Amino acid sequence: MAFPHQFLDEVKLRTSLSEVIGRRVQLRKKGREWEGLCPFHKEKTPSFTVNEEKGFYHCFGCGEHGSVFDFIMKTDGLSFPETVERLTADAGMQVPQDTPEERQRSEKRKSLEDVTEAACKWFERSLHMPEGKVALDYLRERGLDDDTIGTFRLGFAPNSRNALKGALLRDEIPENLLVDAGLLIRPPDDRMPDDRRDNSAYDRFRGRVMFPIMNRQGHVIAFGGRILGDGEPKYLNSPETPIFHKGQVLYGLGQALAAARKSGHMIVTEGYMDVIAMHMAGFHEAVAPLGTALTEDHLRALWKVVREPVLCFDGDKAGQRAAARAAERALPLLKSGYGLRFAELPMGEDPDTLVRNKGRDAMQGVLDRALPLSEVLWRMETGGRVPRTPEARATLQNKLGEYARRIDDPTVRTHFAASFKERIWQGSGGGYGGKSDRGDWKLGAKGRKTPAAIAISSAGSHVTHLGPARRRLEILLATLINHPILYDDVAEHLGALDFTPAGEALDNLRQEVLKTLAVESGLDYQGLLDHLIENGFTSALNALMGADVLGDAVFARPDAEPKDALDGWGHTFSRMREEELDLEILEAVEKNKAEYSEEMTERIVFLRQEKLRLSADYPTDT
Ligand code: UTP
Ligand code: MN
Repeated sequence: MAFPHQFLDEVKLRTSLSEVIGRRVQLRKKGREWEGLCPFHKEKTPSFTVNEEKGFYHCFGCGEHGSVFDFIMKTDGLSFPETVERLTADAGMQVPQDTPEERQRSEKRKSLEDVTEAACKWFERSLHMPEGKVALDYLRERGLDDDTIGTFRLGFAPNSRNALKGALLRDEIPENLLVDAGLLIRPPDDRMPDDRRDNSAYDRFRGRVMFPIMNRQGHVIAFGGRILGDGEPKYLNSPETPIFHKGQVLYGLGQALAAARKSGHMIVTEGYMDVIAMHMAGFHEAVAPLGTALTEDHLRALWKVVREPVLCFDGDKAGQRAAARAAERALPLLKSGYGLRFAELPMGEDPDTLVRNKGRDAMQGVLDRALPLSEVLWRMETGGRVPRTPEARATLQNKLGEYARRIDDPTVRTHFAASFKERIWQGSGGGYGGKSDRGDWKLGAKGRKTPAAIAISSAGSHVTHLGPARRRLEILLATLINHPILYDDVAEHLGALDFTPAGEALDNLRQEVLKTLAVESGLDYQGLLDHLIENGFTSALNALMGADVLGDAVFARPDAEPKDALDGWGHTFSRMREEELDLEILEAVEKNKAEYSEEMTERIVFLRQEKLRLSADYPTDT
């Protein structure tokens, strides 16, 4: 079957060439192109280039050259129709059926685009006619120069019920098409009393500055019309038509594509004027949804072009709400390597007013400070402060966990969940509920072991502490088994501890406990015990739950209050950590004596600070 050209172009546009090729060839960005080792011939230095903008790859070594279709056909051995089918599916599109109805529809689409194009030209002309002077003055007043007006093809719809209608009918465009294209409104039959009936169609846009909306190929498909000055509605948009689906279109995408592919950036603003003002200030990668929330289609389209679009919504309550909604909408769609950033504008500004009042640099600053998605969710829930009570922290952890669970991609999900947990812990400062003198729960310094710290505390250094270290590890593990509810608070630290002193059997038990609670977070003490017994851990459990362990630590027993259990866990852990720090410091000092290094000196300073933080949180005389 023959595929329509328009359709193949659309597939190409929706497919990222470097991404498809990047799955097979390791590509490195080089200037405007990507570069890698040619998959079509053997080579040691890269002569294979991928040009996203132009949509082809080329090898200077062997002369292979082609589009994304060629690449898939050659590397996967697929036929052309198979290749088209596969890329179509990947792009979330459907192969058009070559039926008479489909041909008719596609002809209709084509003629509707001809109509909107004709209307666009007519609006542009009107802007420069005497009746358009008010509109031209308005645009100039708002700082637009002639170039910009031309680039965005801005126009004017005179305040008349049939100016556009008359002009386009004279050009022999049928009235029905004008209605279908959303340019005319045809009142319903029964609107007027019989004697005054006037059902003829009339111009939708009257007395407005016209912003043509283009699809990514640059064809005009709809319009937004702004009232001159104040009045309601401020913007009037074309209705949904066969060629215009509001939720799929991004204003300015046509212009932004080329720039975005070059710079790797894409900026999403809220309005027509924002896109235009950004463009004038040199940010050519700006687009805007059409007064709606950012849809999933929008997000997918953005991610086809860049990995991390920046959302730059107005600095007001509505803008913040829009950002929050976009953040939530993005979660299920996240894939590794793709994200969103959120730029925060000063209160009361939109990108248009900011670049005009404060200049390009102010805007650049705002973009540079844009926060990643995870950070925005964190701030939405915490307002920047980690709550002090364990109850509130648990609630926070649930909420953030809820966000993480909405992410479909397992890698990204795990990453988000872990980083949230870590932050609650860091914010809580590693103080496991040590009671401060004010009687509330203390939140102090961070106590997480860095990979370097783990590496340095080699097995040998534990030998002299084997007795107490072993007992403490037993107590820490027993406390969690008897109080699975502490999982979220202690898992990360328990998981990072070196269990060598406790022996292999206990280490295995620890792994099993952590693994089980990680997947079944709601498990209670009895449920966990049943699971462990079923899985052959009976003797390890017996050893652990004997009087010699629990006798030392009342808080570890099942009947202790969870609050006390958490408190006790924290003290035990911090003592261990302190000893570990001492050993690490000793070792680092010795290493530095043997062979001085800047790095080791820095490490010693860091370890000493850690220790200070720890002893501030848990004074040794308690
Ligand atoms: P804004 O009210 O933020 O518009 O709406 P703006 O771009 O800053 O407009 P100016 O600067 O006052 O001219 C953002 C977008 O929401 C849609 C439009 O797409 C607008 O660009 N909108 C807004 C409407 O569709 N209708 C409206 O009445 C208002
Ligand atoms: Mn504005």
